[in-house]
Amino acid sequence: MSFAFGGYCFIYVHHHGTEEIAHWEMIGVMINQSMRNASLDELTEAGLIGYYTIHGYGIYPADPNGIPFTAAYIQCTGDPITDINEDLAAEQKARTTYEHIMNLTDNEEYLAPLRFLREREIVHYQRFGECLNILLEMFPDGNQNKIRRR
Ligand SMILES: [Fe+2]
Repeated sequence: MSFAFGGYCFIYVHHHGTEEIAHWEMIGVMINQSMRNASLDELTEAGLIGYYTIHGYGIYPADPNGIPFTAAYIQCTGDPITDINEDLAAEQKARTTYEHIMNLTDNEEYLAPLRFLREREIVHYQRFGECLNILLEMFPDGNQNKIRRR
């Protein structure tokens, strides 16, 4: 086999990463469109005055509590079965987060793209599940961490 953990899974994981970055762009645009032209009173009322003080109207990758994104959020053990399970959990957490965001608004201009993003997380979960099944067939003894001593 030419790929580290199955051709289908290798190709899928790389396309998936690109799609996730595009999703982040969509959320960034939505945030920027929401904040653009907001007055100081509106920013204060929305609890965004601290954000505005540091970042203005720019998009800074942080969670709603201001915790910045770091590479520490990306998990990788090098064990494909372990890592795919982590990915499966991440997709479910993303779906849940989109559902929580959707609960915050009745505005269809926000809900439509959020529904799309939520549905993509479900598809990602399904594709990772297929990859997990392939990996479990490839490593029936569960040990994919064998390494040459020399
Ligand atoms: Fe995803």
